[in-house]
Amino acid sequence: MLGTLKTIGEKTLGKSSLESTFHTLLGRAPIAIWSIAKDGTYLMCDGKGLESLNLKPGELVGKNFFEFRKNSPRLVENVKRALEGETFRADVFHQNIWLDTWYTPEYDSNGNVISMIAISIEIDERKKNEEQLKIAREQAETRSEAKSRFLSHVSHEIRTPMTTILGFSEILKKEGISEKDRALFVEKIERGGKSLLRLVDDLLDISKIEAGKTTVEKKRVNLTEWLSEVVSFMEFTASKKHIILDLKYEGKKPKTIYTDINRARQILTNLLSNAIKFTEKGAVTLTVRCYTGNTSSDDVIEFEVEDTGAGIIPENQKNLFKPFGQGDKSISGKYGGTGLGLFVSKQWAERMGGSLELVRSEPGKGSCFLARIKAGPFD
Ligand SMILES: Nc1ncnc2c1ncn2[C@@H]1O[C@H](COP(=O)(O)OP(=O)(O)O)[C@@H](O)[C@H]1O
Ligand SMILES: [Mg+2]
Repeated sequence: MLGTLKTIGEKTLGKSSLESTFHTLLGRAPIAIWSIAKDGTYLMCDGKGLESLNLKPGELVGKNFFEFRKNSPRLVENVKRALEGETFRADVFHQNIWLDTWYTPEYDSNGNVISMIAISIEIDERKKNEEQLKIAREQAETRSEAKSRFLSHVSHEIRTPMTTILGFSEILKKEGISEKDRALFVEKIERGGKSLLRLVDDLLDISKIEAGKTTVEKKRVNLTEWLSEVVSFMEFTASKKHIILDLKYEGKKPKTIYTDINRARQILTNLLSNAIKFTEKGAVTLTVRCYTGNTSSDDVIEFEVEDTGAGIIPENQKNLFKPFGQGDKSISGKYGGTGLGLFVSKQWAERMGGSLELVRSEPGKGSCFLARIKAGPFD
C-alpha cells in the first residue's frame, strides 16, 4: 500500500514533499501504521495513535509480533489472515480501547506475500456512542412493549365489569323477575361499577406517578383516632367474612403523627383489604410500630399486616409489585381487583420516604406485608 501511495504521491508532490506530508499526518492524526514481516518481525510502527497504546514510534521495530501480542488472540488471528493474502477491515477491542483497523498484505515481485501493513484508527468515542444508542433503543422498546401490555390489560379490566353491568341491566329490563333476583342483579351491577371506579382511581394515580406529579401533602393527625377510623371501616368487610381484624401497637406510641394522611390511608386500606380478600378464615392482624429517627423528620411509622389466608406461591411473589401483577389468576378472578393496588401503594410509600415489601408468605398459611413511611416529627 505504501508503495502505491509513494508512486502516486511522488508524481504529484515530489518525494521529499510526500515524506513530510506523511510525517505530519502520522504525527497529528490519531492513527497508527504498523507493518509486520512474514516471520512476525515488526518492520514499522508509527503514528500519534500509538500514544493511546502506551507505545512510542519505532519502539517495536525488530521485535516479534507473535511473541509480543501472544495474549491478544484476535489481533494475532487478523495479522495471520493478512499474511495469508487477505485484505479486510476489523474492529478490535485492544488494551481497553476500540481500534478500527485495515489490514492488507504486501507482495514481492513474484506475487508472494512478504509482509502485511495495517492502519488503525481509534474509534473509542464512536463505539461508546453506539453502545449508548443501543441501550437507549432497547430501553425504548421495552417501555413501548410494557405500555402495550399495560393498555391491553386495562382494556380487559374495563371490559369485564362493563360486560357484567350491561348484561345485567339488559336482564333487568325484562318483566317478571323476582325481587330476590332483582336485588342480586342490582348488586352485581353495583359491584361492577365500584370495580370500574377503583380501576379509574388507580389509573389516575399511576398517571400522576408517571408524570412525577406526586406532591406529598402532610397533615398532623391524632394517631389513635385516625387508625381506629381506618380499621373500623375495614372491620365491616372483615365481619361479613367472619374474619377477626386485630389492631396492635408495639413499642412507643406518639399522640400525633405528621404525614400525608390520604396516601397513608390508601396504602393501609389496600394492605388490609388484600389481607381480608385473600383470607377465608382466621384473622388479620395490623401491628403498628413507631420509631424515632436521627432527626425528627426521620421519624417512621411501620404497618405490618399479617393474615391467615391463601398465601402466595414463591413464583408469583416477584410480580406482586408490578402493574397488574396479580398472583394466581384463579384466585384473583374469584376475589376481583385490579392488580394495581400494591404497585400504586409501593410507589406512594417510596415517595413518602418509605418502603413496601412482602415479609413472608406461605401458600395455604398466610402472608405478611410491611409498609414503612416517614411520619415525623412525632408529638
Ligand atoms: N394478603 C394477600 N394474600 C394473598 N395474596 C395476596 C395478598 N395481597 C396481595 N396478594 C396477591 O397480589 C396480587 C396483587 O395485589 P394488588 O396489587 O393489591 O391487586 P388486587 O388486590 O387488585 O388484585 C393479588 O391479586 C394477589 O394475587
Ligand atoms: Mg389490592
